[in-house]
Amino acid sequence: MSLAIRLNPLQQLRYFSQPLSMGKWIRETYGDFVPMHFQGMDYIGVTSAEIARQVFAADPNGYDVFWKESFAGLMGDQSVWVLIGEKHRKERLLFAPAVHANHFRSYGGVIREIVKNHFGTWQEGQTIKAIDTTLNIALDVIMRLVFGVEGEDEMREGHKVLSESTENIHPLIVFFPKLQRPWFPLWRKYAQSREAMYAWTDRLVAARRAAGRNVQDVLGVLMNTKDENGNLVSNDYIHTELNSILSAGHETTAVALGWTLYELARHPEVVKKLREELSAQGPDPDPALLLTLPYLDAVCKEAIRLHPILAECARIPMQPIEIAGHQIAAGQALGISIVSIHHDPKLYPQPDIFRPERFLERHYSVYEFLPFGGGHRRCMGSGLAEYTMRIALAEVIMRWNFEAVREDFDVRRNIAMGPKYGIPLRITGRYIPAALI
Ligand code: HEM
Repeated sequence: MSLAIRLNPLQQLRYFSQPLSMGKWIRETYGDFVPMHFQGMDYIGVTSAEIARQVFAADPNGYDVFWKESFAGLMGDQSVWVLIGEKHRKERLLFAPAVHANHFRSYGGVIREIVKNHFGTWQEGQTIKAIDTTLNIALDVIMRLVFGVEGEDEMREGHKVLSESTENIHPLIVFFPKLQRPWFPLWRKYAQSREAMYAWTDRLVAARRAAGRNVQDVLGVLMNTKDENGNLVSNDYIHTELNSILSAGHETTAVALGWTLYELARHPEVVKKLREELSAQGPDPDPALLLTLPYLDAVCKEAIRLHPILAECARIPMQPIEIAGHQIAAGQALGISIVSIHHDPKLYPQPDIFRPERFLERHYSVYEFLPFGGGHRRCMGSGLAEYTMRIALAEVIMRWNFEAVREDFDVRRNIAMGPKYGIPLRITGRYIPAALI
């Protein structure tokens, strides 16, 4: 690592606070394989799709987890985020059916109802922060489809405890795990909100058991899971996995949907084409049909290509390995830069421009377009996130006209990135399809 780049303190700060612009700069300045040294860490920035392919293709059992100490503190040391090897594989297999895209197909009506409720609160002439609406949508979807919450009171209470526990994940307690101590106020705040969430989850579990309710959502799967001695797993285990899924799925989906609204607000020509495609399906098309519409698909992909939610996904080899002709020592992190690959002009000409058509003109491989990461740790909730985005967009675009109030920027939110200003939008009026005029 003698040739490793040493980022100065200002660059390190930028790396954390503005990962998108920094990721682009690193690729443009240093190329596609960039050894770096910062924060006492040896880190290799991978900025090309081909090298990303090689990292994902290596033996998954040879990799440890990046930021393990931090994630174990936040989620618990048995979280799917931190398990490795056979335990990790088993854990994913356990709830894969409950988070698989096919499982959610039949819940399209539920997602649409949630979306209608939240966009229904918009009013003509109002200026809103899109992220507030999309956070509410994403949270309600997870509460209904992952936690299986139904009653209005339960939803209201759940909304409060779950949103507090995700909001309280401050970047300082993510990037400096030594601050995960009771003396540190931000950690205390997070730990308290996490306790409230666990207590609420225990009440849900108890109510389900008392009612003999057996549903195959994620909570249902976890409640029926047995440990190696044949006993039902503990509530601690249920807490850990639900917290991991909530933290992975709430803000990510909300930010992705928010950026899509932002780009639509700035591109009326895209809105027009989208409306043509949607109008051809008739009023209130079956939600599952939305997954087959090519332009809607291209719009969603282009929004998360341009604004990836996670800047990178990293792997730590536990033994020396060779990647792209380079010898990597055990313990050197390999950080696949999603932001750099998504902004590579060789793959995406004029990469800073929002142009959904590029996804209709060319097929991108899973290493060229990788908003959900890849390999053995690829996102487990991509199907739910993609479905939610499509249903929400179809609903809002056929109901409202809106415009962007100001330019917004991708900055670090906590683990993920998000819009600096929360995407302020002005609701200019209701959209009435031509057929109804
Ligand atoms: C647009 C929304 C989302 C984005 C952009 C996203 C992105 C990602 C990324 C980049 C990873 C790391 C993958 C890797 O290391 O290769 C990940 C992991 C994960 N995601 Fe998502 N995610 C989204 C929504 C969701 C949802 C809705 C859920 C659950 C309902 C979810 C559950 C998970 C889980 C459990 C993991 C950890 C997988 C593992 O370590 O094995 N995600 N996600």
